[in-house]
Formats: sequence, C-alpha cells, structure tokens
Amino acid sequence: MQSSFAGKKIVVGVTGSIAAFKVAGWVSALTQEGAEISVVMTESACRFVTPLTFAALSGRSVLTDMFAAEEGRSISHIQLGQEADLVLVAPATANTIARMAYGLADDLLTTTVLAADAPVLVAPAMNSRMLMNPATQRNIGMLKELGHGIIEPTSGMMACKTEGPGRLPEWEDVREQLLATLSIQDLQGEKILITAGPTREALDPARFLSNRSSGKMGYALARMARRRGAEVVLISGPSSLSPPHGVELINVQTAYEMCQAVMGACRGTSVIIKAAAVSDFRPEAKFPQKVKKDDAEFVLKLEQTIDILKELGERKEEHGYLLVGFAAESCNLHAAGEEKLKKKNLDLIAINDISGEHTGFEVDTNKVILFDRHGFSDLPLTSKEETADLILDRVIKLLIEKRMH
Ligand SMILES: Cc1cc2nc3c(=O)[nH]c(=O)nc-3n(C[C@H](O)[C@H](O)[C@H](O)COP(=O)(O)O)c2cc1C
Repeated sequence: MQSSFAGKKIVVGVTGSIAAFKVAGWVSALTQEGAEISVVMTESACRFVTPLTFAALSGRSVLTDMFAAEEGRSISHIQLGQEADLVLVAPATANTIARMAYGLADDLLTTTVLAADAPVLVAPAMNSRMLMNPATQRNIGMLKELGHGIIEPTSGMMACKTEGPGRLPEWEDVREQLLATLSIQDLQGEKILITAGPTREALDPARFLSNRSSGKMGYALARMARRRGAEVVLISGPSSLSPPHGVELINVQTAYEMCQAVMGACRGTSVIIKAAAVSDFRPEAKFPQKVKKDDAEFVLKLEQTIDILKELGERKEEHGYLLVGFAAESCNLHAAGEEKLKKKNLDLIAINDISGEHTGFEVDTNKVILFDRHGFSDLPLTSKEETADLILDRVIKLLIEKRMH
C-alpha cells in the first residue's frame, strides 16, 4: 500500500535547538515513505547538525541562504513556501517562534513561512523554563491565532539535565499529526465511538475465555477517523496495541464492562462502530480460587453475555446515532450480512471474512463485505487502515443521507 506521504512536498525548517538531531530521523522516515522533503536550516541550526546530514537523508541540497536564490543558486524564498503541501518547523526554538509570531522575515525559513499557502506545523523544543516563560507562551498563542498548528511538546528529562515539558514528541505521534494535517477533515464535528479487541471472561483468577481478536481493525478505524477530524472515543478490550494519537481510550476486560462503557459514552455520538469481538459466552460462575488439575472431570457451564450491538440497535432511534456492526464469518457471508443488518437494526455491517490467511484476526490486512439498505459491496483485500478509510467513506455517505431525511 502506498504511504499517504508519497509525493507530498514538505518543507522542514530546522532551527538551533539541541533536538535538531532528532529531526534528522524524521526527515529520513518521511523520505523513505516517499515524501519530497526540502530542508531549510537557520544559521544556528547549522551549528548543531551539518547541512550535509540533512542533504544525505533527504536526497536534496539543504537551503540555508536567502540570497543564494537571488543569485540563481537555489530555489526562491517565495517559490518554496508556495509549492509546499505542508511546512513543518521542527525543532522550533523560542527565538524562531518569537520571530514567526511577529511576522519577521529575516532569514530563508521565516520568509518561507510568511509566503506559504500550505498549513504550517510548529514543534517547539526547549528548556522547560524557556517554554513556560510568559513571553514564549504568548508567542505560541499568537502562532495558534495565526492558524498554525502546534505539535505539543512532551515532558521528560531534557538535554540540560532538568525534567519538565519541552521535549519533541516521539516520531509516531508526530507522524500522525502530519498525516492529519495533510488529510481531508471530512469527519470534523463528528463524535465517533469505536469498540475494539477481544473481551476476557474470567473462569478463575488465572484463566479466562477469550478469542483471537488483536484489536487491529478497531484501532485502525479509530486512527483514520481521528485523522479525518473526528473526536474519537475508543473502548478497547485487552490489546497490545498503542492507542492512536489524539483518541480517548477506555480500557475494559469483560463483555459486561464493555457494555457499561459503551452505554455510558453513547450519548451525543453521531456514529458508533462496534469492531470489538465480544465474547458470546462466559463461565456461569467465576471460581474464587484457581481450579486444580485434580478435577479431571471438570465440566464448564457457560451462559450468554449481553448482546451489546442488539441493545444499541434498540436505542438507536432514541439517541440518533448511526450504528455500524462487524461480524466475523467463515461461510455464507452474504446471507449472514443481510440477516444481521436487519435483525440488529444496523445502518451498516462489515462482514469480516475470516476463512482466508490474510483476513480477519491478528493480521494487518483485511477483506470485508459491506451491507447497508442499498445492498452490498465487496471491498478489496487491503490493509486494515485502507479498509477503515473505505468504511468511513461509506459512513459519511450514510450520515449525509440520514441528515437529508
Ligand atoms: C547547546 C545549546 C542548546 C540550545 N538548545 C536550544 C533549544 O533546545 N531550544 C531553544 O529554543 N534554544 C536553544 N538554544 C538557543 C538557540 O540556539 C538560540 O536562541 C539561537 O539564537 C536560535 O536561533 P534560530 O532560532 O535562528 O535557530 C541552544 C543554545 C545552545 C548553545
């Protein structure tokens, strides 16, 4: 699958912070994903990392001198900002933040920012006291007012051996913020509730009933919905995945807990997507102590758990949300889709074909069939992120239809 960065023109403005070396790694990652990176460095930045490092990592010469352009030795200070899809200033020093806040244009980077049509993202990095200084805070506030995005610094041990806010965030979080900035924001204003992962139904203090769900599909849906501007609440059973950036995560264990969490959070949501693989059964009683091996004839009695999807289907009209279900099936996929769509009062159901090697549980790819009141469509075998995007496209279509009625 092609990266969303492929072919994107990104200007990376590097300033004189000790964190400049970290951004070398970001430039390398972006270039590997197919982005066309033009690095602009301030004079101070060149004292921390050499332009040669960034040139080698981006595969392009690094721009440092505004007047070189006028002598025909590099791209013009106006052209660079105008051609970009995105301008990222990282690390951004207190000094450059102040210059940008006041609209100064005293070097190639600040001039490029002023001339840019593209969105500008700024990643402050500095000592905590410099960051918390009212002057810096005011300047960051001014950048927000100008419409620039701020990549909020994180807390931790700083290069100056003090602890506090002012560090650049990890690349995975930054990557997500860059992708959100480049993505269409067609889910802005929507509150989406997504469930993911398996549930665990305890048998005794050591054992439980569960299933093979990894949470990958639900987490991909949460990530893509957030990237497209939605406010996302993710209710997840046990999963080893990291929560997507900017998503509110609620962790649960059992089907009962998941039901409680979903019912507690469903008010005010415009869409609910139930991608979790909730246990259908649980042990009738939980043994307070670990069951011993000696009980060789042990027979486990099960009872049904609550059907959360059905409950949500029954409350749908009252609350006004769009309801999307998932079902893992290994045969008769079309019949199952049509039946569950009606029976559970859903607006959309994704039937997950778990018979193939590359679909369903644990893997990074998926193949689903979507059913709504118009009929069905087979989605291709593709990454779970792309599957999530295609499902969200359909969700938006259904939301528009619903609101027109
Ligand atoms: C070792 C060292 C580390 C520095 N680290 C930072 C930093 O992380 N953040 C910051 O705002 N300034 C830092 N400074 C100060 C800036 O380099 C200085 O304000 C410079 O004028 C910034 O220029 P520029 O914004 O044009 O790149 C550091 C200075 C030194 C000597």
